[in-house]
Amino acid sequence: MNEAPPLILLFGHGGQLAWELRRTLATLGEVTTAGVDNADHYLDLTDGAALDVLVRELRPALMVNATAYTAVDEAESEPELAYRINAEVVGEMGKLGAELDIPVLHFSTDYVFSGIADRPWKEIDEPAPRSIYGKSKLAGERALLASRAENLILRTAWVYGARGQNFLLTMRRLFCEKDRLAVVSDQFGAPTWSRLIAEAAAQVLAQCKTPHGRFQFGRYNGQVFHLTAAGQASWHEFAQAILEQTAEDCTLESISTQQYPTPAARPAYSVLDNDNLAAAFGVRLPHWRQGLTLCLEEMRET
Ligand SMILES: NC(=O)c1ccc[n+]([C@@H]2O[C@H](COP(=O)([O-])OP(=O)(O)OC[C@H]3O[C@@H](n4cnc5c(N)ncnc54)[C@H](OP(=O)(O)O)[C@@H]3O)[C@@H](O)[C@H]2O)c1
Repeated sequence: MNEAPPLILLFGHGGQLAWELRRTLATLGEVTTAGVDNADHYLDLTDGAALDVLVRELRPALMVNATAYTAVDEAESEPELAYRINAEVVGEMGKLGAELDIPVLHFSTDYVFSGIADRPWKEIDEPAPRSIYGKSKLAGERALLASRAENLILRTAWVYGARGQNFLLTMRRLFCEKDRLAVVSDQFGAPTWSRLIAEAAAQVLAQCKTPHGRFQFGRYNGQVFHLTAAGQASWHEFAQAILEQTAEDCTLESISTQQYPTPAARPAYSVLDNDNLAAAFGVRLPHWRQGLTLCLEEMRET
């Protein structure tokens, strides 16, 4: 007799990454989502009791957390909410995971790093976030690690996709509205398509699934891995690549971070080294330019 597919509780539903994970994780089990908008289970993460009730009721085989307070600038004026969603909640997921024996896959960010570096950041490098968003995400990583739940953390960066709020969609809108656009050229990262992150996460989890439908991270339990597209770009280079692939007539100017002040400080250089993920799971994302081409191709077709 066939065993029932394991239940995967995905926190998040319509977010950039959650939307993609709903599809890629479906190959590994029955995915049920929890969130505030259209999710299978209504869950407002600011309500601590609700998380507890839902997890105890569902008893999933795996929790995947694709939620976050991602408004980097707004976080500076809403630190309590940012810490609640990005740190406290993650700790609570961890505690539930430890008590009920449910592994947790969690996502974090390149913004945990200071940005002062002359080579891609490795997992062993010391984080030193410069913003409330980065600090709260780092606090979330640490709360999960301290919870003793079986866990794995994937740090990604500069996420974009066909949905949600992201640089790609903002640029496409602005190219239609403006003749000239000034974009920061002294911050460097790796633009990463949400689809590719979700596919890679599913590949990692497939290797952690036992024949009995459990998920075990084994020797990778409690480890952080970097997961971004290959290569690096400034926001200006990323914008230029988007412009080249759209038919809009817009001139791009390059400006410095100083000329574009924002409430939150961003790392100047947050390119991540992805070698550990490739060595552990044989998973490596393509160059960011390839990811962008694939994403735009799909957007044109839908
Ligand atoms: N965006 C980036 O550039 C970037 C860069 C590096 C790392 N990351 C990390 O990647 C992960 C996914 O980010 P993303 O870009 O997909 O974020 P996103 O598009 O902003 O989506 C955020 C998700 O969080 C959920 N959420 C927020 N507040 C909530 C609340 N009070 N209760 C329940 N759910 C709530 C939303 O739920 P609904 O679906 O219900 O609306 C949504 O699914 C996060 O861990 C983020 O820190 C993102």
